[in-house]
Amino acid sequence: MYSQDMLASIKKVEATRASRIGVEPRRMSAEEKDALLKEFHPDYRDVGFDTLRVGVNKGDKVPVELRALLEGKSRVSGLDLDLEHPDYDVDVLVIGGGGAGSSAAVMAHENGANVMIVTKLRIGDANTMMAEGGIQAADKANDSPAQHYLDAFGGGHYAAVPELLRKLVMDGPGAVKWLNELGVEFDKAEDGTMITTHGGGTSRKRMHAAADYSGAEIMRTLRDEVWNREIPVVDFTAAIELILDENGHAAGAVLLNMETGRHLIARAKTVIISTGGAGRLHYQGFPTSNHYGATADGLILGYRAGVPLLYADTLQYHPTGAAYPLQIYGALVTEKVRSMGAMLINAEGEAFMHPLETRDVSAASIIRECKARGKGVTTPEGQAVWLDTPMIDMIHGEGTLEKRLPAMLRMFLKYGIDMRKVPILVYPTLHYQNGGLRVNDQCESCIPGLFVAGEAVGGIHGRNRLMGNSLLDVIVFGRQAGISAAKACKDVHLGKPTLEHVNKFMAEMKAAGIEPTEESPKLLPHYARTGDAK
Ligand code: FUM
Repeated sequence: MYSQDMLASIKKVEATRASRIGVEPRRMSAEEKDALLKEFHPDYRDVGFDTLRVGVNKGDKVPVELRALLEGKSRVSGLDLDLEHPDYDVDVLVIGGGGAGSSAAVMAHENGANVMIVTKLRIGDANTMMAEGGIQAADKANDSPAQHYLDAFGGGHYAAVPELLRKLVMDGPGAVKWLNELGVEFDKAEDGTMITTHGGGTSRKRMHAAADYSGAEIMRTLRDEVWNREIPVVDFTAAIELILDENGHAAGAVLLNMETGRHLIARAKTVIISTGGAGRLHYQGFPTSNHYGATADGLILGYRAGVPLLYADTLQYHPTGAAYPLQIYGALVTEKVRSMGAMLINAEGEAFMHPLETRDVSAASIIRECKARGKGVTTPEGQAVWLDTPMIDMIHGEGTLEKRLPAMLRMFLKYGIDMRKVPILVYPTLHYQNGGLRVNDQCESCIPGLFVAGEAVGGIHGRNRLMGNSLLDVIVFGRQAGISAAKACKDVHLGKPTLEHVNKFMAEMKAAGIEPTEESPKLLPHYARTGDAK
């Protein structure tokens, strides 16, 4: 439970609570937001970034941890691999078993392709599974994809690639309909209509949720669909390098069985990278809300093959990671808590910002409160602010929090904190990579036969993503990648398989005098318990 100092601060939060109900805090002006971000958002710090010295993005700024991996030693270096005699031979190889990979596999199968998923953990061990608050789609009468576009474009600092964002919002209603028909148990009113709520930066209520375990419910349904269709899933098997043919067409991947350490070859007429995010690289020392395998693997594979990165220097720090107790440090506290009325309050009991500013602004505001204004609450890991959760039942009636946020309630109750009665402590946590590999709206990269979907794509959201647009993008772009790859593989006649692109990349590193500091892709975080396959 809470320390004496924390309990004393809670008294101050309680003292102002009643006066805050029904009063909407002021929104910041654009100028205030810009100044705040520049001073306090981690993306704007000089430390934590380095310049890439090789590859198509040479000269660009990227996080130091990512640079070490992009300039890492290939895991195929020195191996004697027989690329001509594959262990697997398929039309479409999907790398990654999360929401994007599973959607892609289902649609590739639906379109007649012989498809296989490889995943370094198990299908569903992915950020999709851990998503909580919901999925956006403009499917209500008072809303439109155009309105959705404006919200997301502004929230992303006008940096989203227009054709990608257009695809996201236009296909949104169809994506939610597809999930609903597959069996996702969305929250619905008695008449069967979807219940929708706001997220930070939305001008309409378009967040569709399954309580506060929306991602788990979506992932459960997609996984069932993959299994029902008997799509092969090779688990505990990582892709460690792409294979191209002699003409530069994607031709498969070198795989590593994580349990036995054995290398395997997958030949494929088309390949989809859907490897997810990078939270487990713990940029700038932040904790993360991401799953165990989020180590940017797809970015390394794609970059070495020549696919440019877009916005690799922009990360999303979710404003409300759990800051206390330590056992759940960095775990996601869904934005839905704030969209249901809980306010962010400093140690003095003051509401210091509107609770539904966009995520980058909210995170920067919390950091300022703690680091510059001295109004944070001291925790074993540093500083935090309060999220005043008892407001939810005061606003919406007793029992609401339990009904709409059951997983969150249970997570804190395990540690003796009843968030219906006392506020919880939060601080930003590394949540999402805004940047990634560049593709067009058909998910095609610049390498023929190579497609990318999900969090490994850069540019859909610009420099900051709105809540619920990630679950949407894994479905929209996952489905599209499956369709595109299935269509493309019909005309493919592969030439001789090679790893020449890897050799060339390593030669470029050598010429630049780069001594790799680690092997990449990373596959598991440095604190992972590993066996022989390490
Ligand atoms: O706060 C959340 O529930 C996270 C949602 C998202 O990242 O889209």
